[in-house]
Formats: sequence, structure tokens, C-alpha cells
Amino acid sequence: MRPQRFAAPEAARPALLFARQFLANPRTVGSLIPSSQPLVQRMLAGIDWSAVETVVEFGPGTGVVTRAALARMRPDARLIAFELDPRFAAYLASSIDDPRLTVLPVSAETVAAHVADGCDVALSSLPFSIMPRDVRAAILAATAATLNPGGRFNAYQYSPALLPELRAVFGDVAMRFEPRNWPPAFVFSARA
Ligand SMILES: C[S@@+](CC[C@H](N)C(=O)[O-])C[C@H]1O[C@@H](n2cnc3c(N)ncnc32)[C@H](O)[C@@H]1O
Repeated sequence: MRPQRFAAPEAARPALLFARQFLANPRTVGSLIPSSQPLVQRMLAGIDWSAVETVVEFGPGTGVVTRAALARMRPDARLIAFELDPRFAAYLASSIDDPRLTVLPVSAETVAAHVADGCDVALSSLPFSIMPRDVRAAILAATAATLNPGGRFNAYQYSPALLPELRAVFGDVAMRFEPRNWPPAFVFSARA
């Protein structure tokens, strides 16, 4: 009898890819499963999408935040996603067919060099608390330098520890708790 092969159903593929990449690189992926929809909604709340021309996203992974942001963006807006993991970057580029999206397989540290004309919104899913302090500082400084006046930086973390560092860079920063995620998350929102 020939052995049967089971293909992963399409809907399960991103979850499997996510778990596999977490097991390969736990310190850069930072979570075993993608963000929940309640966390994604909270990340994108409070933004006037009709006024947004350029969005940058750090750490899109399998694209839960990316897809939701694209659904809110104007037809003439653009989203530039920075994804360090080449497998996630390739998956995103092949699974999201949207001319407004550019996926760069590079670190978020390079945002200022790639988005020289500024951005209105920066969205981060990066595991800041477990990355080297100098890399974290470089990403936050580059984000502040890239945001247009009045622009928003929304980021989630699994602890509130980033708040003082964010306040040192951005000044006024709001923090909200989202329990409907695993792990439960804190969402920070800063204004440039
Ligand atoms: C917790 S996952 C978030 C994935 C997805 N946005 C979500 O919410 O489900 C963190 C992501 O950040 C990426 N990452 C980590 N360090 C990075 C860096 N310096 N620049 C760009 N992406 C990075 C990882 O590869 C991973 O895709």
C-alpha cells in the first residue's frame, strides 16, 4: 500500500510556518503563534486612515497586522514592511497580492535609509524586550527620525517594560492592555 501524503490545508499554513520559524529563531520571532484579531484591532485603532499616505511595519511575520492595515488604507497609500526572517518575507510577498505593499527582507534598523521621505504610521510587532539594547535603541531612534510630524508609532509587547524607553524617545505615550491574545499584550501608542 502506498503511504498517504497529507498536505497542510491552506488556512493552517501560516500557523505552521509561524511555529516552525519560532522554533528555529525564538529570540527574533518572540511568539509561538501569530497575534489575535483583538490585538490587531487594538494596534490599528485611533488612526485616521483617510489621512495616511505611508505606513511602515516592523516584523510582519505571516501578515496578520499587514492584511488588516491594507484593508484600512487608501487605494493610493503604500505600506513598506521590514521583515528580518527571509521565509516570512518570501511568504508575505507571495501570499499578499497588493501593489501598495513592498516587503523588504531587512532589519527595521534600516527604516530611515529606505523611507527617506517619511511615514505617517509605524507599526511594530518586534520583540523589543529580548533584542540587544543597542539594536532596540537604533530602531526607536530611526523610527522617530522617519515619522512625519503628528505621525503615530503603535507597538505591542508582552510586558509594560518598554514604556520608560518609549517615553524618553517620543515623549507622550499611551499604553493599553489586551487580554485576548496569547500571551496577553500591552499596546503602546506614541505621537511624533
Ligand atoms: C512576534 S512576531 C510578530 C509577527 C506578526 N506581526 C504578528 O503580530 O503575528 C515578530 C516578528 O518580528 C520579526 N523581527 C524580529 N527582529 C526584527 C528586526 N530587527 N527587523 C525586522 N523584523 C524583525 C520576526 O522575524 C517576526 O516576524
